[in-house]
Amino acid sequence: MPNLSNGNFGRLATGAALGFAAGLALPHARKAVAQGPSIAAGDWVEALKAEHRLVEKTFEMLLQTTEAEPVKRQMLLTKIAYALTKHAVEEENVIYPAMIEAGREDQARHLIEDHGDVKTFIYELRRMPTEDPRWIETARRFFADLQEHVREEEDDIFPTFRAALPDEENARLTRMMNWEGFKVA
Ligand SMILES: [Fe+2]
Ligand SMILES: [Fe+2]
Repeated sequence: MPNLSNGNFGRLATGAALGFAAGLALPHARKAVAQGPSIAAGDWVEALKAEHRLVEKTFEMLLQTTEAEPVKRQMLLTKIAYALTKHAVEEENVIYPAMIEAGREDQARHLIEDHGDVKTFIYELRRMPTEDPRWIETARRFFADLQEHVREEEDDIFPTFRAALPDEENARLTRMMNWEGFKVA
């Protein structure tokens, strides 16, 4: 095994290794990991779908919690809020404006309004004590609304929009969206 800790790295760092090191400078490595599943998807619709699945999984865990698990409730809510914030930045800063640019303004405005409701739900849940019986009821309504929004995006709006765009435009949207996600990851 070559010893990389005593200065041999310089001699071993040939083209590929150098490119890797330069492309993934250490402060960004954590972000690259956080963004991993979305980038791995390689297509903006698939990337957003992968993020939807992650939020749904966390929501299902949250809905299993009881009033006797306040820490777990707060932890899972934080995870959902964090994932949805990143997701909203990606959609609101790239995909929805691209839809408006392409003449799909009504759909985009409708989706943006849904995101406003998401923020209100998160605010309400944070304001309410987790042991309040209304807490889980509110979370359940939040999840139902969110699933409806996700279904609209996945079953109709996003695939239809992607199909109407040339490949290079879809590739451009994917790159722009990944950059937005990278900023806030
Ligand atoms: Fe959305
Ligand atoms: Fe979405």
